[in-house]
Amino acid sequence: MFNDVEEVVFSETQIQERIKNLCEEIAAAYEKKSLLLVGILKGCLFFMADLMRSLNIPLAIDFISISSYGSSTEKTGAVKILKDLDTPIQDKHVLIVEDIVDTGLTLGYLLRNLRERAPASLQVCSLLDKPDCRIVQVPVNFKGFELGKKFVVGYGLDYQGKYRHLPFIASLKKEICPF
Ligand code: IMP
Ligand code: MG
Repeated sequence: MFNDVEEVVFSETQIQERIKNLCEEIAAAYEKKSLLLVGILKGCLFFMADLMRSLNIPLAIDFISISSYGSSTEKTGAVKILKDLDTPIQDKHVLIVEDIVDTGLTLGYLLRNLRERAPASLQVCSLLDKPDCRIVQVPVNFKGFELGKKFVVGYGLDYQGKYRHLPFIASLKKEICPF
């Protein structure tokens, strides 16, 4: 598994340190509000777990699972909800927790969908952001790291369903992943 890795892009230590700072930003923004973290499965898995444990404010969590039609590398913008939220979000302060924003198509759809449910506020926290890959403009209110046009795996992120359990974020060798 580790043999498929080309380069570690963000180490475990770098990720944990960045999350601590991110949590201070988020805690300051939501200090007097009751926060609902909405994780987008499955990529948010570790980020959600680490983020919520470092957030020293009252909060609740929920999850939504979506799939884009087509693979993660050919984007159409059409999104299907595989598992919806368990609870209504009306009048709640919602923070979407995403692993990575690439074209922005997935998040664009989700923001439109959740906005219709009339939350008190709706913002986005993404561990990774690839601003150079945007097709639609979406707000990323809290972000961990920016990345160029690079495909990465690990810490929740997959390539064809694999590599999510790597404890760091890495690029793959060209013979494994050509992107
Ligand atoms: P977007 O709709 O193009 O912004 O893509 C968002 C989704 O594509 C993410 O939530 C990931 O599931 C997937 N994705 C985009 N870039 C990468 C990457 O570099 N590695 C792994 N998954 C990615
Ligand atoms: Mg995702």
